[in-house]
Amino acid sequence: MRIIKAKDYNDMSRKAANIIAAQVIMKPDSVLGLATGSTPIGTYKHLISLYQAGDLDFSEIRTVNLDEYKGLPKGNDQSYDYFMKENLFKHINIKEENSYIPDGMAEDDEEECRRYDQLIDSLKGVDLQLLGIGLNGHIGFNEPNDVFSKGTNLIKLTESTIEANSRFFESYDDIPKYAFTMGIKSIMQARKILLCVSGKSKAEILKESIEGPITPQVPASI
Ligand code: GLP
Repeated sequence: MRIIKAKDYNDMSRKAANIIAAQVIMKPDSVLGLATGSTPIGTYKHLISLYQAGDLDFSEIRTVNLDEYKGLPKGNDQSYDYFMKENLFKHINIKEENSYIPDGMAEDDEEECRRYDQLIDSLKGVDLQLLGIGLNGHIGFNEPNDVFSKGTNLIKLTESTIEANSRFFESYDDIPKYAFTMGIKSIMQARKILLCVSGKSKAEILKESIEGPITPQVPASI
């Protein structure tokens, strides 16, 4: 594990984008694991600039996203599908059919989890997985638990996560309470993982993740 310190959010975002750019340049048909949340927005902005400058080509890149809220249709402005289109995909030359995200409207939860795992397998795994971290140490939507999850699963979000997400929704009732997330095992099978953390509010959980025991109670500790 390498820890790369950055002087501020913009510096972190530029450094993260450079690492992803290196992956895209060295392996133009890479599978990128992508994340949502406020943390990667700056990274995506820098990637878009590199693309606009002519330095990156995403035409052969495939992406798999970590998670999606259950119950939000594609196109809903709070869905992660919408987030990815707005913050990255519509600004670069990625092919629509090459980016994947769990289907928040799937009728059969178990079947959707199986489908997503098979999809990741069919892509032969993730080359570089981008991650943020939740205030309670969650990665993707893998909340603190007694065991590390394996494949894609449907998660009941904790109150602290619902609270953290409330800033994006008009009322408590509108906030999804469940989400599909790639499992910890799938995340850990990525050939490289880039976890980006920024801001004072994350300092304590970052310290716990890096210096504390490896425990599913702090998913990022793994
Ligand atoms: C959500 C996402 C995570 C993200 C976390 C932190 O829970 N599912 O992937 O890491 O939010 O978000 P933020 O970067 O806004 O702090």
